[in-house]
Amino acid sequence: MFIALVCYLFGVIACVATPTKQYIPKITPDLALQKKLEEQLALVASDEAVRQQLNQAMKFRTLLCQRCHGVDGHSRNGRCPNLAGQNPTYLLQQLQHFSDGQRQDFQMQSMVRKMADADKVAVAIYFSSMPPRPSTVGKSDQITKGKSVFHTRCAQCHGAQGQGPYTYPLLAGQLPEYISMALHEFRKLNSRRRTSIMREIASTLSEADIKVLAAYISTME
Ligand code: HEC
Ligand code: HEC
Repeated sequence: MFIALVCYLFGVIACVATPTKQYIPKITPDLALQKKLEEQLALVASDEAVRQQLNQAMKFRTLLCQRCHGVDGHSRNGRCPNLAGQNPTYLLQQLQHFSDGQRQDFQMQSMVRKMADADKVAVAIYFSSMPPRPSTVGKSDQITKGKSVFHTRCAQCHGAQGQGPYTYPLLAGQLPEYISMALHEFRKLNSRRRTSIMREIASTLSEADIKVLAAYISTME
């Protein structure tokens, strides 16, 4: 599991490479871009003028994104995830995965293909700086069951609060329809997210688990 995680983190599909056909991983560009993200995050955090400049520019540059992901990073369509407060490292990594085809989605891939690396970094910072909020509220037996499944099966990676550091996504407050869709997608034989570490994990979940997890996660703050 540890080896799988390390390989995953560096975007290496080499884990499955056979001796006859060597896979050359794209480690260098991925890491270089993640480093750029760290530099930009530090700059934005230390310089208010830069932060405002970035926000102003991104408000317009992300107009198209907002149509699906919401003006404030909260989507109204269960197929599109909320991006508000999402970990910047995860956001950038997923944009890279759409670019290099590790993650497949027709709409996202056609948009990301035209995006410059610097824009991917700026977009990741912009959406991550928006405050997240739960997408559903309330109490039910389902939610209580979901909480117990989450804390035994998911919290070790995604964090007890569902915040997840670095490349582990923030799940807390995500739309229940999206959580359910993503978990079903990971389980598919021909998954659109075929290099994800989640594939193995999701394949052990029952339909009932997915239902209660989606209910609980969407209420987490
Ligand atoms: C036409 C609707 C649409 C538009 C416009 C759109 N997206 Fe998406 N986006 C989606 C859908 C649908 C998904 C989920 C794809 C999947 O099922 O894997 C997604 C997923 C994502 C993800 C992955 C998030 C996660 O939680 O894994 C990121 C990051 C993202 N979009 C960023 C953007 C950015 C940046 C833009 C603007 C350049 C944008 N999107 C524009 C529909 C859209
Ligand atoms: C071994 C660590 C690990 C465990 C355990 C784990 N996850 Fe994940 N999960 C990840 C990583 C890493 C990603 C993001 C990378 C990817 O999908 O390629 C992810 C992604 C996801 C996503 C997609 C989020 C998005 O925005 O698209 C969902 C949903 C998810 N996990 C739910 C769960 C649930 C529910 C559990 C418990 C049953 C769980 N995970 C357990 C590591 C883990």
